[in-house]
Amino acid sequence: MRIIKKVDEFKKIREKLKGTIGFVPTMGALHKGHISLIKKSKKASDHTIVSIFVNPTQFNEKKDFENYPITISEDIKNLEKEKIDILFMPSYTEIYPDGYKYKVIETEFSKKLCGAFRPGHFDGVLTVVMKLFNIIRPHIAFFGEKDYQQLLLIKNMVKAFFMDIKIVSCPTVREKDGVAMSSRNVLLSKEERRIAPLIYKTISKKISDAHARQILTRYGFKVDYIKTINGRRFAAAKIGNVRLIDNVKL
Ligand code: PAF
Repeated sequence: MRIIKKVDEFKKIREKLKGTIGFVPTMGALHKGHISLIKKSKKASDHTIVSIFVNPTQFNEKKDFENYPITISEDIKNLEKEKIDILFMPSYTEIYPDGYKYKVIETEFSKKLCGAFRPGHFDGVLTVVMKLFNIIRPHIAFFGEKDYQQLLLIKNMVKAFFMDIKIVSCPTVREKDGVAMSSRNVLLSKEERRIAPLIYKTISKKISDAHARQILTRYGFKVDYIKTINGRRFAAAKIGNVRLIDNVKL
């Protein structure tokens, strides 16, 4: 596995790669959900490239960015085990030589659900994904369904800008108790982790969104939203300081 940190160096290597390129963008703190995306990419493409970049522009709260878990040496070991071809690990200045003066903005769906509670979040996500796509030039890119709103926005961005990249959506990987795998789970205290499965359990029930909200609020969650759109129920709730999101097809 090669570790590349500079855009120019990556571009030179990319020119020489023959065959299909599968790409898994991440912010590190890798878990089994990420590994499942990587395994899918390895099966579907000749070369698999993973990026680790904790993208500051998608964090609307400074504290959330500062607290984001970083586990680089374990991540590298795990990626070596998976035998990926290239780990792309750029710095802020490599990705934002423009200082984030240029942005990709979606004006409707990105303002709803998570976007209503995290202003600018999806501008940061779409901008960094567009930049990474332009650097990596993948044929296929893999995204988890846990971040379903992100997945839909990226699919639609690719369509809107006529980009020749196939976006593959991959099912949410869950812990045995139903908690959706997320890098943020390590931030939960023992007690918070104990009640975390209630999100998935509650939103999977055949009850109204309002009733599901009532149940989670009763257990001490600070619910941002629970909303069913086109047969899929989306939820975001805070346990203590940790904000978790999930969604289920009803
Ligand atoms: O889902 C993530 O980890 C991030 O939002 C992504 C797609 C890597 C962009 O920073």
